[in-house]
Amino acid sequence: MAKKETETTDSEPERKFNEDTDIKDLPGVGATIASKLRNAGYEDVISLATANPMDVIEICEIGEPTAKKIISAAQEAANMNFVSGLEFEERSKAVQRISTGSNALDILLGGGVESQAITECYGEFGSGKSQIAFQLAINVQLPKEKGGLEGHVIWVDTEGTFRFSRVEQLAKVKGLDPKEALQNIKVGRAYSSEHQKALVDKIAGMINRDPKIKLIIVDSMMALYRAEYVGRGTLADRQQKLNVILHNLQRLADRFNVAVYMTNQVMARPDMMFGDPTAPVGGHIIGHVATYRIYLRKGKKGLRVAKLVDSPSLPEGEATFQISADGITDAEDEDAKKTK
Ligand SMILES: Nc1ncnc2c1ncn2[C@@H]1O[C@H](COP(=O)(O)OP(=O)(O)OP(=O)(O)O)[C@@H](O)[C@H]1O
Ligand SMILES: [Mg+2]
Repeated sequence: MAKKETETTDSEPERKFNEDTDIKDLPGVGATIASKLRNAGYEDVISLATANPMDVIEICEIGEPTAKKIISAAQEAANMNFVSGLEFEERSKAVQRISTGSNALDILLGGGVESQAITECYGEFGSGKSQIAFQLAINVQLPKEKGGLEGHVIWVDTEGTFRFSRVEQLAKVKGLDPKEALQNIKVGRAYSSEHQKALVDKIAGMINRDPKIKLIIVDSMMALYRAEYVGRGTLADRQQKLNVILHNLQRLADRFNVAVYMTNQVMARPDMMFGDPTAPVGGHIIGHVATYRIYLRKGKKGLRVAKLVDSPSLPEGEATFQISADGITDAEDEDAKKTK
């Protein structure tokens, strides 16, 4: 019954556009729009496929129907449809982990900080959020057997707290060349929340150019948003903006199989008698997006206690570790100290 010509109807028709299509060739794009998109960090089909229409409208100065048409053309080209459970399983097999430096903390996180996921660390000032970031930025550069991925790092610094001297110090402890270790970390200093978003929008292009990038750090995620939206009564607006940047980070994590580690300062409120005394100011917006959330607090004798909160797949629990000149390590137990 079936005619010869229809033989190929069961298989996928040959697709005119694919992931490697130049964005200027997509329906509705063209040279002018392509150049505007590139300047804004949308350099390829996939980044465009996952773009927010509002951003595309603004960047290209075009109307909503055109923006939507462009994005859906990119989605079509990127073949971003449903995937089978089996493909899903394949993807999760590709997950890689970076050691925090503390065994106990790694175990709490199911083996270290995970790729394809956002790990959010929140706690009050001095609790060790940035110190974990420094340690991860070094450890990711180590070979696999030492807890790393021989990877490079992107560091978005929103408070000017990146310290090259700390990187060099930790590199030496791990036997890495300090200058090389610094070279492998690309630091973007964000001066406003808009600038922070613009920096994040550039990351896809950076990873395309340097596929060794395995870790994205944002320290801290909320500081600029918090400062800028203070007293403006536009909390919903802030949350919406935060949501966009968080989703962009999650897309980067999925698409490039990289880990995202972000920090979030919260104030301990000892006056509060009920509920969570460390509830992040402005609500739990990050919580809904982050895959792993660690709450850090200062423990006895300079130790730190990490608590895993709301994890989808891991049991809640706590881990104790310490921060010293040598970086993040397991807490030395008292008996071991005495025999030294
Ligand atoms: N070289 C070092 N030697 C020993 N301890 C250090 C060293 N550097 C940092 N620390 C410890 O780390 C703490 C600072 O931690 P960190 O900067 O990670 O805090 P944070 O959670 O990022 O705070 P904030 O919210 O203010 O950014 C210091 O109080 C100190 O205890
Ligand atoms: Mg910090």
